[in-house]
Order: sequence, then C-alpha cells, then structure tokens
Amino acid sequence: MTSSAPRSLPVPRAVLFDAFGTLFDVHSVAVRAEQRFPGAGERLSQLWRDKQIEYSRLVSMSGRYQPFWDLTRAALQHAAQRLGLALGPGEEDALMNEYRHLSAFPEVAEVLRALRSRGVRAGMLSNGDPPMLAVAVRSAGFDEWLDPVLSVHTVQRYKTDPAAYALGTAALELPAREVLFVSSNGWDAIGATWFGYTTLWVNRQGLPIDPLGTEPTRTAANLRAVLDFFPAT
Ligand code: LAC
Repeated sequence: MTSSAPRSLPVPRAVLFDAFGTLFDVHSVAVRAEQRFPGAGERLSQLWRDKQIEYSRLVSMSGRYQPFWDLTRAALQHAAQRLGLALGPGEEDALMNEYRHLSAFPEVAEVLRALRSRGVRAGMLSNGDPPMLAVAVRSAGFDEWLDPVLSVHTVQRYKTDPAAYALGTAALELPAREVLFVSSNGWDAIGATWFGYTTLWVNRQGLPIDPLGTEPTRTAANLRAVLDFFPAT
C-alpha cells in the first residue's frame, strides 16, 4: 500500500500517538493464544480485541467507567467462553501479562529519535490506564521519548469521546489542528479527525476505511510516514 498523496498542510507542532497496535505490537498476544489453543489463537485474539473496544464504548456511553485493564480481562473471559476455550486462572493471567511485555514496532525508536532531532514534541494518548501505560512505556524503553503520556483514566471517558481527545490539546496547550494524532485504529483516526486533530491513520493491515464521510488527513502503511509531516531542516 502506498501513502495517500501528501497534501500541503501547515506543519504540526507536536505529535500524539495512540498506544496499542500503533506503538506497541499486540501480535505477541495472538502468538501466546495460538500456543495455548492451536488453530484458535488468531480468532481468540481478534474477538478479545473487538470486545475490549466494545466494552470501552459500552461503559463510556453509559457513564460507567472501568479501567482498561479490567475491561481487557473481561473481554478475554468473554472471548474464551464464546469460542468454547477453557481458560484456567493461570492461563488467563499469562495472556493478560502479554500486555505488560509488548514490543514496540521496529520503526518506533527511529521515528521518535527523528522527531526529537527535528525539535518536535512526541507524546501518547491512550485508552490504557496509567499502570498499563507506565509498564508498556518502560518495558519498551520509551520513558525519555514520550512526553506527555496521557491516559483517558483522568476523564473516565474512552476514545472517541471528545473529552478523551481534549486531554491532548489541554496538555500540549495547542489547538487540535496543530497536533498530529497518529493511530493504527481506523475508528480512532476518524474520532481524532472529528475532534479537529491533523491525523495519520497507520493502516498496517491494509483495511478498508470506515465509510463515515470523514477521512484521516493522511493514511500510510507504517509509522515512518509521521516524518513526512515534518520537513528535515
Ligand atoms: C489505545 C487503544 C485504543 O491505546 O489502542 O488507546
């Protein structure tokens, strides 16, 4: 897949990255699931992820926030049961613990370094609760590279609620269009575009766009396209 044609845009003044699937590769979760349930790992991890996001919307829309870690566990329990997979407590913990040791995608470190060298601030805005984010950032070695690290836990509303996206503009003290919001989740890229951010959808899987009448500012296959927004000086 090729990047969509770069349009001429004002250069953003900061970048905010989504976490899971964008900076951190959740594939290891599927690998672990496949080891335990041969032939069903992919389906388990897909249903698990879908339910995790569904639950985030459910609790958010009803004003019944629960931390992302708890929703992730509930989603795993549901997905396993739905697929008829027996998940003992040890196995449940083992799968949950994959979230604590996620690898970053290979290009992330290079992109963060290049942003720093171009004088661009880079942070993160995620549905993950603060302990999940702290562990993920630390284990990937990104403590020094991401500032701010923002969790929707502060507002107890999940993306795509505008209150969640507003955490980014408030922390950076910038108007939304001057911030590049980067996500590999199509729905997140659209929600951020609706909020007013300049957006990059990192469509790693070559998925069709959600045809809701709004497109991200740009779409690309990997995170290196972030740098196209910031000319090297
Ligand atoms: C996040 C999930 C949605 O990090 O990927 O917010």
